[in-house]
Amino acid sequence: MLFGLFTLQAIFSYFRIVLFVNVTEKFLAKLRQATYEHLIRLPMTFFNKRRIGELNSRIASDISLLQETFTTTSAEFLRQIIIVIGGTILLGFTSLKLAAFMLSIFPVIIIVAVIIGRKLRAYSKTVQEHIADSNTIVEETLQGITNVKAFTNEIFESLRYKNKTKEIVKYAIKGGKLRAAFASFIILGIFGAIAAVIWYGARLIHQGDMSMGDLTSFLMLTIFIGASIGSIADLYAQIQKAIGATEQLMEILDETPEEYTEGEIRHRIKGAIEFKELSFHYPNRADIDVLSKINLTINEGQQIALVGASGAGKSTITQLMMRFYQNYTGQLIIDKTEIKSLPLSDLRKQIAIVPQDILLFGGSIKENISYGKPDASDQEIQKAAEQANAHHFITEFPEGYETLVGERGIQLSGGQRQRIAIARAILKDPKILILDEATSALDSESESQVQVALDQLMKGRTSLVIAHRLATVRNADKIFVLEKGKIVESGNHNELSKLENGTYKKLSELQFQS
Ligand SMILES: Nc1ncnc2c1ncn2[C@@H]1O[C@H](COP(=O)(O)OP(=O)(O)O)[C@@H](O)[C@H]1O
Ligand SMILES: [Mg+2]
Repeated sequence: MLFGLFTLQAIFSYFRIVLFVNVTEKFLAKLRQATYEHLIRLPMTFFNKRRIGELNSRIASDISLLQETFTTTSAEFLRQIIIVIGGTILLGFTSLKLAAFMLSIFPVIIIVAVIIGRKLRAYSKTVQEHIADSNTIVEETLQGITNVKAFTNEIFESLRYKNKTKEIVKYAIKGGKLRAAFASFIILGIFGAIAAVIWYGARLIHQGDMSMGDLTSFLMLTIFIGASIGSIADLYAQIQKAIGATEQLMEILDETPEEYTEGEIRHRIKGAIEFKELSFHYPNRADIDVLSKINLTINEGQQIALVGASGAGKSTITQLMMRFYQNYTGQLIIDKTEIKSLPLSDLRKQIAIVPQDILLFGGSIKENISYGKPDASDQEIQKAAEQANAHHFITEFPEGYETLVGERGIQLSGGQRQRIAIARAILKDPKILILDEATSALDSESESQVQVALDQLMKGRTSLVIAHRLATVRNADKIFVLEKGKIVESGNHNELSKLENGTYKKLSELQFQS
């Protein structure tokens, strides 16, 4: 019978493990996907608060910890609980009195376990936070490795990393000590219980309430149960650790994502833009008004320019148009509708921006251009590149449009990157085009070439051009001069040039002199 029993147990163990690996792996893959999907839909305000390295760590390290815990621990936890419950029922059959006596020590163990579990959870949260910090250091320094080297800050960074890892060890050891103390307590509790059972059982035998044989089987069962309780306690501690480690992850999952609609654009815009008494501060810097009482009107199809010193708030205006932030006061109206009530994805699908700092993904040039329209044909892509004056330099690479850019491929110059970004915008065929210092990284010759492409691109769409070189915005229908978040002057080039003591006049005189 015993042999049969053990064979059965062996077979069940196999299926138990296979089943649990199956379930947890699928669960974790789902969790990873859900976290990522959730993460990229969170609003900009969220990304201003968090660092990329930290978020990376949450997806990589926190979820791995869950994996470890769930694949091994939860199956074991269940098994031990079944043993404890089954064993306790058997105990009850052997001697009710003795079973009740033995069970009276359970509440004590449970209370201690809960208290210690809480502390462990907190330590583990701290450990994961330090891991996230250390990952941030790795990520940021590797991304900016040229800066690290140029400033010979290798030792400084190593030290920073070393200190972080020391913190990890410190808190991990604190948690470890707590677990060790907990284990000691459990051992004491279990052997105490066994000793107490022997003592009480002996009395029962003495009184004739129990037979020697019953006490022996009772003791056997108690030892079984005791061992299970011991491992449950340890598993419980591990689970608490996992919960602590993932508290931050759960906080991220609790954040409200932006609305998102797939598929075709349903709400088409024409492209008239109006800012009415709009004031704004970044949510993470409530004390500084970046824009105050902005009023501006752009008619459909007009070209307008924003000029002003760096830090004046020009890029912020473009960010508001994409509805990256919504905590402004006043109104931002496109056509006749406040943009807060436009479908978000539809709005963004009809605006294209060529920003100051261009990010190219680590794929081919073709993929990078078609980011503006994923289903574009090769011809469309090539046409967009031609218009952006990029076709020529692309075909000079041996692999042409298939050339990989970024880490595994070639590094493009600032001007080449900018032209790829322009091609991307052309392909998107937007109603509103924003050029945020789009030609700033170009030398004069490429600039004049790209300018031709841009002029072409701006035709028939509302466009907002931000530029330092005033020569590039001379032909704009209207120029707004921004100073410390306020519009101080507006008009076309001729009007603004006539203003005595005008900011625009001063700026353009300075530039034309040089
Ligand atoms: N994400 C942000 N969080 C907090 N402050 C910001 C953020 N982005 C920009 N700012 C601040 O807003 C001001 C305007 O910035 P920006 O619009 O980028 O200026 P510009 O494009 O005219 O050079 C600056 O003082 C800048 O420090
Ligand atoms: Mg800017």
